[in-house]
Amino acid sequence: MTSISVLLLGVLLRTYLQPSAGVLAWNDLPSQAQYIDLRANNVLSSVPPSTVFNGTSLFIPPNSTRQSLIDRPFHVYHPDFLSIIGSNPSLTIIAQTSGNPLFHEAVVWYPPTDDVFFVQNAGAPAAGTGLNKSAIVQKVNLGQVGQALAAGSSRNVSGQVTVQVVNTTKQVVNPNGGINYKGQIVFTGEGQGPDVPSALYQVNPVPPYETKVILNNYFGRQFSSLNDVAVNPRNKELYFTDVTYGYLQNFRPPPGLPNQVYRFNEGTGAVGVVADGFNLPNGLTFSPDGSRAYVADTGANAGFWGWNYTRPATIYAYDVNSAGGFCNRQTFAYIDSGVPDGVHCDSAGNVYAGCGDGVHVWNPSGILLGKIYLGEGSANFQFAGKGRMVICAETRLYYVTLGAEGAAITDYDYSNMY
Ligand SMILES: *[C@@H]1O[C@H](CO)[C@@H](O)[C@H](O)[C@H]1NC(C)=O
Ligand SMILES: *[C@@H]1O[C@H](CO)[C@@H](O)[C@H](O)[C@H]1NC(C)=O
Ligand SMILES: *[C@@H]1O[C@H](CO)[C@@H](O)[C@H](O)[C@H]1NC(C)=O
Ligand SMILES: *[C@@H]1O[C@H](CO)[C@@H](O)[C@H](O)[C@H]1NC(C)=O
Ligand SMILES: *[C@@H]1O[C@H](CO)[C@@H](O)[C@H](O)[C@H]1NC(C)=O
Ligand SMILES: *[C@@H]1O[C@H](CO)[C@@H](O)[C@H](O)[C@H]1NC(C)=O
Repeated sequence: MTSISVLLLGVLLRTYLQPSAGVLAWNDLPSQAQYIDLRANNVLSSVPPSTVFNGTSLFIPPNSTRQSLIDRPFHVYHPDFLSIIGSNPSLTIIAQTSGNPLFHEAVVWYPPTDDVFFVQNAGAPAAGTGLNKSAIVQKVNLGQVGQALAAGSSRNVSGQVTVQVVNTTKQVVNPNGGINYKGQIVFTGEGQGPDVPSALYQVNPVPPYETKVILNNYFGRQFSSLNDVAVNPRNKELYFTDVTYGYLQNFRPPPGLPNQVYRFNEGTGAVGVVADGFNLPNGLTFSPDGSRAYVADTGANAGFWGWNYTRPATIYAYDVNSAGGFCNRQTFAYIDSGVPDGVHCDSAGNVYAGCGDGVHVWNPSGILLGKIYLGEGSANFQFAGKGRMVICAETRLYYVTLGAEGAAITDYDYSNMY
């Protein structure tokens, strides 16, 4: 494009998209960001059938290349994304493996130590986990990441950051989801074979990593394989998804319960169901005020049974009523790449999900604002307070700096622990 047409495009974008007051103007685009002009995608010169191009394909917009998309990874679809990424966003690889999917899900930031916990993929052939051995819990320290970054401006500090195995006093069997809870961490364990039931584990995030099971059945019946867990900021109860992935990945028996979302009040012991009717419910989170719930349905990816692109790759939103029940299900977003797995909100209520090409970001109305583009899938990620995020992408662990702040962690008052 000539500089005149760049100028004209800028004027057009400003006219059509009207950045809201206070955000950066389009011409202040950070060096790590690029605009994606959605109008350029509306009419393509060729549109192949789903046998050739489908939900597992990476879409390359006209005049982009795979490399140009990766080179400036903050993709701005809407001017409101500019305040989310801030004036100088960055994306850095902080750890990498040659094939073992060590960086999968359950990304949890523990503020007192500035550690970020995460777990290996359970059931992935490349990990050898599932039936024969459990996936492991690991952690990195963000203080150390900060030091590695301060030493240079590289987009890859892999090898300079220690990835530590977390030796919990009791094995968290095939962990998958995690959340801050009462100053500790609750992990979902998917279980192993017919004899190790799926369970919620509470882990103390400091040595010796004291660990106990806090729930392992529904009135005597095994859960299928607990996937993700969240705490509602209003009632502080644990909400979690149960889904057949352990079965679909050959390490759990056939399911004996529907795929659904449960709530657990540890104080009273009450366990109940708040939502069903999913294909494969997966990630879940709440809006910062706890009045909305978001549940991802990854039905299009049926594990070892393969992909079916007519099934959901969808995030549903619910209102959470004052009693903590879910109502008014809405279709919040249908993902354009892969499936939406982990979901989290920032402090302003914008919704982020790990998808087939990176992390997608919507405003609370479900308008896609932008992507943190990896060119590969992310199953989960988490904010680490203000302006920091850690993204798991199976064989790569990324660190992001941005403008947004994660939704407040409401399980506990950490301020007296610093
Ligand atoms: C893509 O590039 C071609 C050739 O430079 C140009 O004619 C066309 O307008 C560009 N399209 C977009 C959407 O920028
Ligand atoms: C989806 O697209 C990929 C890549 O072209 C292709 O290999 C695969 O067979 C397609 N899947 C289906 C179910 O058509
Ligand atoms: C489990 O181990 C057995 C024996 O080593 C092997 O044949 C099998 O493929 C392994 N299964 C998985 C799921 O890794
Ligand atoms: C990042 O650095 C590590 C260690 O030097 C290297 O093995 C890896 O290939 C690099 N990754 C990329 C994407 O450049
Ligand atoms: C866990 O145990 C391994 C092997 O003993 C050790 O190398 C590692 O440092 C331990 N991890 C932590 C966080 O203490
Ligand atoms: C894909 O899913 C649809 C909807 O559930 C189902 O009708 C269809 O049989 C599935 N296709 C395949 C190839 O499994």
